[in-house]
Amino acid sequence: MYTELSTVESREKLNGNAYLLKVKAPQIAKSIKPGQFCNIKVSETNYPLLRRPFSVCYAEEDSVYFMFDIQGEGTKMLAEKKPGDRLNILGPLGNGFDTEGDYDTAVLIGGGIGVAPFPLLTEKLEGKEIVTFVGARSADHVIKWGMKNIVTATDDGSEGFNGNVIACFQSEVHKLEKRKIRIFGCGPNPMLKALQKEAINKYDCQLSMESAMACGFGICQGCPIKKSQGEGYYLVCKDGPVFESDKIIIE
Ligand SMILES: Cc1cc2nc3c(=O)[nH]c(=O)nc-3n(C[C@H](O)[C@H](O)[C@H](O)COP(=O)(O)OP(=O)(O)OC[C@H]3O[C@@H](n4cnc5c(N)ncnc54)[C@H](O)[C@@H]3O)c2cc1C
Ligand code: FES
Repeated sequence: MYTELSTVESREKLNGNAYLLKVKAPQIAKSIKPGQFCNIKVSETNYPLLRRPFSVCYAEEDSVYFMFDIQGEGTKMLAEKKPGDRLNILGPLGNGFDTEGDYDTAVLIGGGIGVAPFPLLTEKLEGKEIVTFVGARSADHVIKWGMKNIVTATDDGSEGFNGNVIACFQSEVHKLEKRKIRIFGCGPNPMLKALQKEAINKYDCQLSMESAMACGFGICQGCPIKKSQGEGYYLVCKDGPVFESDKIIIE
């Protein structure tokens, strides 16, 4: 884990609410695994006090990319960063996706900004067949940057499948029946809950969970998620954010 005082290299607007930020952070870029995240201090003052967690979207040589949606004050500040601005970044944090093992087709299922870790995952999955299901509210919220072999689903039917991304996967999965698939899911909790239900006893499936976080590495106990077997909790920041789908209870 490193703390890097990094420099913003570029900022790109992906759609009305989503941005892509490229920052120079050589140590994190060299050690990051897909699905891991960083805790970013979004301002140089003490406000907001807490760092904000973001998946690393992509990495190349000395730089990492973050893809984010404006949600509140912290992400608004992040969206205003310009090339040359400084950002204090802590990472890599969390476990990341497990890409090893016996499967030939990776099925990536993302809802909204949940697609953020997929570009780095896509690169790491070289040699596997990949199908990426991208869900969004409408065509102007669809994000495709850095992904491949994309099937789109929109809630209002303005692009691709008319409905949510899990219904879209259900309608397409027969095409993959002869394949040995592993599912990688990331998105809002209701989407992940529906995916967990779909996957149970049927598919090898890993889910990247979201939780409000403070420290980001297991000290504050602020990000518990219930274990499905036995008593107690995992910590999303340290034991996750990626979990085998049958290991957790999604509230
Ligand atoms: C491991 C992890 C990886 C993440 N990766 C990304 C990413 O790659 N891109 C991205 O856009 N977002 C990501 N998030 C969510 C992101 O951290 C929050 O959207 C962000 O912290 C909101 O900060 P804010 O100051 O803008 O909003 P706040 O003012 O703190 O909150 C605004 C709204 O966002 C909600 N919110 C706050 N924190 C979270 C959270 N952790 N998860 C879900 N909703 C939250 C609040 O309930 C509130 O409704 C990730 C979260 C986690 C835990
Ligand atoms: S955020 Fe502190 S323990 Fe997880």
